[in-house]
Amino acid sequence: MTISQSSFTFVSDLVRRETAMLYDPGKEYLVEARLLPLAREAGCSDVDSYVIRLGTDLAERRKALDALTINETSWFRDNAPYQAFTDTLLPSVIANRGHVKHISIWSAACSSGQEAYSLTMLLDQHLPPGWTAQILATDVSTAMLERVKAGRYSQVEMNRGMPAPMLVKHFTRAGSEWEVADNLKRMVRTQHLNLATAFPLLPTFDIVFLRNVLIYFDMDTKRDILRRVHQVVAPDGFLLLGSSETTLDMEDHWGRESVGRVQVHRPAGTTSIPHATSAPAAWHPTAMTGA
Ligand SMILES: C[S@@+](CC[C@H](N)C(=O)[O-])C[C@H]1O[C@@H](n2cnc3c(N)ncnc32)[C@H](O)[C@@H]1O
Repeated sequence: MTISQSSFTFVSDLVRRETAMLYDPGKEYLVEARLLPLAREAGCSDVDSYVIRLGTDLAERRKALDALTINETSWFRDNAPYQAFTDTLLPSVIANRGHVKHISIWSAACSSGQEAYSLTMLLDQHLPPGWTAQILATDVSTAMLERVKAGRYSQVEMNRGMPAPMLVKHFTRAGSEWEVADNLKRMVRTQHLNLATAFPLLPTFDIVFLRNVLIYFDMDTKRDILRRVHQVVAPDGFLLLGSSETTLDMEDHWGRESVGRVQVHRPAGTTSIPHATSAPAAWHPTAMTGA
C-alpha cells in the first residue's frame, strides 16, 4: 500500500463532505485501487501526487468522486422486492390511483440504472391500458446518470440477473453492448441529487426504492434522509430499502409490513395493504433463466 495517511484523510474527508459516504480507516487499499487508474491517466507518478492535484483541479475531483462512489448493482437485485412490487405494491397503487391513472416512482441512488429499468419492464408488463408511469432516477454520480440516459449495458452486466425473455423483449444489440428499448427509456427521467443535502423540489411518489445506499452513511445522516424521504412519499405509498437496511427507530415516521420475503415501509398511520400477497404472481424471477 503506497497511499500516505494524509492523502487518505484528504480523500475520505472529501468523499464525506460531497456525498456523506464513509471511508473509514482500513479502507486505504480501496481508495488506492480506485484512484490509481485515474492517477495514471492524469500522468501522475503515484496516488499521492494525484491527491495533491485534487486540491486544485475541480474536474479531476469530480472524476475521483465518481470513481469512489460504490456503484454495485444488478437487474432485479435480490428478486424479492420486485416480486413484492408486482404482486402487492403495484396492485395497491393501481387500486388507489384510478382517478389519475398515473404512477410515480423514485429510484433514489440509481447507480447505472438497472433498478429503474427493471421496474420499467415490470410496468410494461403489468400497467393496465391507459395508465402512465414515470420513474425519477437520481444519483450523486454524474457518470452514473450519463449511463442511465444511454441505457447501454455490457454482456457482463446483462449476465447479472437479466432474465432471457426480458432481454429478448426489451433490448437490441448496440455493438458489443445491449441497449434498452426507447419505450422503457421514456419512462425514466434522470436528475442529479445528493441524498445527504436538502432535496430540490420533488413530486410526491407512490413508491420509493432507496436501496443499498443508507449502509454507507452515519446514523444522523440516515435519520435525516429517512425524514426527508418521508415528506415525498404519498401517505398511502411505499418505501423499499436494501435487505440489510431499516428505518431505524423512526416509528413516528415509518411503519413496517412484511410483503412476501421483504419488509415494506409505509408512512406511519397508513392502514395495511388491502391487496397484500393476494394477487397471483405473474412474474416469477426464479423461473427465469439468466441471459
Ligand atoms: C451500491 S449502489 C446501489 C444502487 C441501487 N440502488 C441498487 O440497490 O442496486 C449505491 C449508489 O448510491 C450512490 N450514492 C452514494 N452517495 C450518495 C448520495 N449522497 N446521494 C445520492 N446517491 C449517492 C452511488 O453513486 C451509487 O450509485
